[in-house]
Amino acid sequence: MRISIVYAKPGMKLAENVYKSRKVLLRAGTVLTPATINALKKRGILEIEVESEWDMQALAGGSQEVDIISEEIRLKAEQTIKDIWEEVRKGGRIHIARVKSTVETILEELSKRNYTFLKLADIRALDNYTFTHSVNVCVLALSLGIASGYTEAELLELGTGALLHDLGKVIIPGDVLNKPGPLNEEEIEIVRKHPAHGFHLLCQEPEIGINAALIPYEHHERYQGDGYPRGLRGDAIHKFAQLVAIADVYDSLTSDRSYRSKLKPYEAVEILIAMSGQGFNPKLVNLLLDNVEIYPVGCIVELNDGSLAVVTSVNKMLPIRPKVRKLVRHGESYVPSGDEMDLMENPTVFITRVISLNWMSRGGAGSQREDKAL
Ligand SMILES: [Fe+2]
Repeated sequence: MRISIVYAKPGMKLAENVYKSRKVLLRAGTVLTPATINALKKRGILEIEVESEWDMQALAGGSQEVDIISEEIRLKAEQTIKDIWEEVRKGGRIHIARVKSTVETILEELSKRNYTFLKLADIRALDNYTFTHSVNVCVLALSLGIASGYTEAELLELGTGALLHDLGKVIIPGDVLNKPGPLNEEEIEIVRKHPAHGFHLLCQEPEIGINAALIPYEHHERYQGDGYPRGLRGDAIHKFAQLVAIADVYDSLTSDRSYRSKLKPYEAVEILIAMSGQGFNPKLVNLLLDNVEIYPVGCIVELNDGSLAVVTSVNKMLPIRPKVRKLVRHGESYVPSGDEMDLMENPTVFITRVISLNWMSRGGAGSQREDKAL
């Protein structure tokens, strides 16, 4: 059974040798300990093969969320945005050096990340939506910028603009900004002023380059020209703004808002795929698909025939159709059975929902179906 290193638990037994640069790091049969798991993570090992009869309860119950940036850096970044908003609201200047140093710290942290797929589900935080959202969009945009091969200088501009993409919202009254439910026409008019206002604010700071300033201005433009404020089309929209637009929509879909509950990453990704070519540059949607873990290895899903399966490998070409193995009950546990099924080659079989990465760790907030199933 192949699992992501993130779900490796002490007590699991390796079914195959673990190699790094053709050298054996650990031999098959080794029982994992916290120290060996840590060592594998440090060496950049992403997946391991463990003996197939693992305890599903232990796997689900023991899963833990791993933030892609540390709590300390996240809180500092959120505080930076909060302070900047307050200062700008009072008519003060944007503290650019502080923004840049925040972006540099996030970049440094991202470069230390030892897995290839972005664990987007892990960049959640529920309170302080506006500030958390700004940090999330920055982290996601930078990750996609790294995947695009941008230079350090470009990443710094991208991160700065992403962190400040919604700064223009300081002009929106709080009751409109946080209104539960749909906005009326007059309120929509007010909200739609935030990109131009953000651009105007950033343009007053000579230290911010035009590429960063264009991000707030153009992050609500859409690929086929039906965005705002200027209705730009295609590549007339700055490449950084196109990238931040995807990060912005993705993060907003997967966040709890006062008027709706959050979508799961794979649901949000399906919406982005549906908007590919219309709202967003298809190349950038593909870039996101290449870098997010929609159904990670080890994830337990329900198929449309009602059976449960575990994801055994991610299909890079089409991450929404991974390879799976069905699960059968074995005593108190569920174990994978039969051959691996490639959902790319079985178009009538599809995933209806994710049962677990972490249903147990969410305090058993799962449905009755989950309780019955596992
Ligand atoms: Fe916005």
